[in-house]
Amino acid sequence: MTDSNAMWGGRFADRPDEVMEAINASIGFDRRMARQDVEASRAHAAMLAATGVISGSDAEAIREGLLTVLSEIEGGTFAYSTALEDIHMNVEARLKELIGEPAGRLHTGRSRNDQVATDFRLWVRDHVDLAVTALDKLIDALVGQAEAGADWPMPGFTHLQVAQPVTWGHHMLAYAEMFDRDRGRLRDARARMNESPLGAAALAGTGFPIDREMTAEALGFDRPCANSLDAVSDRDFALEFLAAASICAMHLSRLAEELVVWSSAQFRFVRLSDRWSTGSSIMPQKRNPDAAELLRAKVGRIVGANVALLTVMKGLPLAYSKDMQEDKEQVFDAADSLLLGLAAMEGMVRDMTANRDALAAAAATGFSTATDLADWLVRELGLPFREAHHVTGALVAKAEARGLDLPDLTLVEMQDAHPGITQAVYGVLGVENSVASRTSYGGTAPDQVRAQVERWRAR
Ligand code: ARG
Repeated sequence: MTDSNAMWGGRFADRPDEVMEAINASIGFDRRMARQDVEASRAHAAMLAATGVISGSDAEAIREGLLTVLSEIEGGTFAYSTALEDIHMNVEARLKELIGEPAGRLHTGRSRNDQVATDFRLWVRDHVDLAVTALDKLIDALVGQAEAGADWPMPGFTHLQVAQPVTWGHHMLAYAEMFDRDRGRLRDARARMNESPLGAAALAGTGFPIDREMTAEALGFDRPCANSLDAVSDRDFALEFLAAASICAMHLSRLAEELVVWSSAQFRFVRLSDRWSTGSSIMPQKRNPDAAELLRAKVGRIVGANVALLTVMKGLPLAYSKDMQEDKEQVFDAADSLLLGLAAMEGMVRDMTANRDALAAAAATGFSTATDLADWLVRELGLPFREAHHVTGALVAKAEARGLDLPDLTLVEMQDAHPGITQAVYGVLGVENSVASRTSYGGTAPDQVRAQVERWRAR
């Protein structure tokens, strides 16, 4: 017994090989669930006393001992041991040192299998909540930008080619929509994951008269998981978090890419503040958008975590297998990356300055109001849209050949393409009129954008 493991060494004479210990141990990373582990153990001990499985005095000793363990962990004085494999056995062993015999009663009616499933759910749930709060702040920053520039024209792109003028506010609010869906996905996942595995024990439940409703409630779960096999072998909650995180990270990477492009000398659409830019050690003129570039890249590790955990879970027979210990590092890393990324994006967006003049100048290039001209021909002259498209195309070609924009063509030149064109056409060729005309619900007109800003503010 002295040479073998204190927790399960009853039938072992020899201790594990060093390499066995190294591959088996998870304490190097699952110590991040220490708080959740203590919390779940406290709920379990209180329930064991309430149901008469252990005595009230043992439960009280356990409760006080666990508080000491938690303060040692939080104070950084807890001595973690690799020989004790994981956080669950580290906590229990320390509890034994502190309170002696009653510590051995804590593990009645539970197993490390339901314990780890419970701790991990609590950890993921905490981080879902942190991500939702971070998304609230990022959306607020985007809405702030949208409000300031609700009527600032900028080029709208398709294929990264100038398409039609849009407003800065409209573009910012497109991202608010994406991040709002991310928030919704996280909330959906949270609602589904909020069931307690505790009391499923190793896989089959237990014969002790435990009260799973009681521990579920104490830990803030809506109800206990209904099937003990599923309770200990399910990691959907982590996968759903990673899937939602992957989509969110993809959104961050798209906005990040726009910031990289927009802050370049060629675009000059935005200026990132000093706080969110970096310099070059050799080129004194540089202001690099490093945070945006890193955000463009972070999606790789988050999606990687999602794929890794799916691959771990694929083909695993019921119920618990040690494979599942490989679930945590991926989720920890993805959660850290996501929270850091959301905070960085919020800071960049809040601090950045849109260059209104550069946006307006760019909005007027690339024949961005060609569609407005075609629409005018339809509306005022009754042309079928296909014919209007053709006439406008001819005018664009003419202007382009002479290095002009559409409004620079004379009325006579316009009438060459179609004799019905009148002076009034010039009214629709300016970008301000163009954006103001797009008043359909969800369109880019400043009034629409302001109405959407109101809607966001009201939420
Ligand atoms: N450290 C383990 C994990 O993370 C805890 C569960 C161990 N269960 C077992 N039957 N060996 O999955």
